Amino acid sequence: MWGSRRLSSSGGHFLGVVGSGCRVGRAERPRLASWAVYSDSQLIWTLQNKPWIFSEHRTVCFKSCRMTFSSLNRIKSYWPPLTRPYNAAHTTVDSSEVKTFLALAHKWWDEEGVYAPLHSMNDLRVPFIRDNLLKTMANHHPGKPLSGMKILDVGCGGGLLTEPLGRLGASVFGIDPVDENIKTAQHHKAFDPVLDKRIEYKVCSLEEIAEETEDTFDAVIASEVVEHVADLETFIQCCCRVLKHGGSLFITTINKTQLSYVLGIVFSEQIAGIVPKGTHTWEKFISPEKLESILESNGLLVQTVAGMIYNPFSGHWHWSENTSLNYAAHAVKSMAADHLGPADFVSKEETEAPQAEASTISQVHEELKE
Ligand SMILES: C[S@@+](CC[C@H](N)C(=O)[O-])C[C@H]1O[C@@H](n2cnc3c(N)ncnc32)[C@H](O)[C@@H]1O
Repeated sequence: MWGSRRLSSSGGHFLGVVGSGCRVGRAERPRLASWAVYSDSQLIWTLQNKPWIFSEHRTVCFKSCRMTFSSLNRIKSYWPPLTRPYNAAHTTVDSSEVKTFLALAHKWWDEEGVYAPLHSMNDLRVPFIRDNLLKTMANHHPGKPLSGMKILDVGCGGGLLTEPLGRLGASVFGIDPVDENIKTAQHHKAFDPVLDKRIEYKVCSLEEIAEETEDTFDAVIASEVVEHVADLETFIQCCCRVLKHGGSLFITTINKTQLSYVLGIVFSEQIAGIVPKGTHTWEKFISPEKLESILESNGLLVQTVAGMIYNPFSGHWHWSENTSLNYAAHAVKSMAADHLGPADFVSKEETEAPQAEASTISQVHEELKE
């Protein structure tokens, strides 16, 4: 989406409607032994005791290996949503994406430039984030409604979304793997002494933050970012890890549809040449359904999915029921069992399974440490 501009009268700058993903081959994944080498009991034992063996690769394995539905269901039942072991060994940062964004790092604050659609997207995404967060707050300061909120803006770029969130009173931590982006963001926030105090930026990956931080942020934002990451499942897993229980994850991204292929890849790259050829990878786009399933398998409950439409003539966005191109999603991290108050009765039967899972996790952590 960022790669598009307002459609000029000469018709030279279309693309805007889609276009957020950037081309890069998928990160090389280590090979796994074939499922065929596991007997049924070995498979179950491995899933119970060493689930991480499959965690990073299960999608690939499921696709490439012929498994019966009953085996898949059995695996699913051994896979509790919140207990997948955290593993930051695989980076979500794709070096080709870094190169792409590095080349554009000085253009963030040009409101008429390549990032114009991201500037105007603030008209939708800032109120979307603010209003959903306000629903979770008992009281708020009218002038600074997000005061007291701790927000992580992942893939903050030049700070286009970070700054308005800071202006709403939130303490925002913006991270980005591209150092030139962070330099631009730092430089820009320094113009406003209030923002200078409320916003902190750092060049790093989400995995690095997740390694040292857990249950910390009231909200995590990944706006126009997931279509650039190398490993979406790890990325979402890390988002979930750093969120407080009850905290909100906000994502805006591009659907994986024929329309996004035609407009984002064929039109903008091959026909109009607005974006350099090969910039977008349609495979990295994701449908709301697939995203929802990844979010839910990580213990996040999806609250809202709303379509966003960009008008390349006016340069403005509006909400839509149509999610076939861009969309925004809001999900909430479920409350942990140990956060339940005394009045929250949980029967023995209900507690047995989570305890078994918990002991498996601690075993996993022990083994990982070793
Ligand atoms: C399209 S820009 C969006 C910037 C910002 N979120 C906004 O909407 O204004 C995508 C940003 O994601 C960053 N990025 C790319 N891969 C990433 C990853 N794996 N983790 C975090 N950020 C990433 C890029 O450096 C870039 O700044």
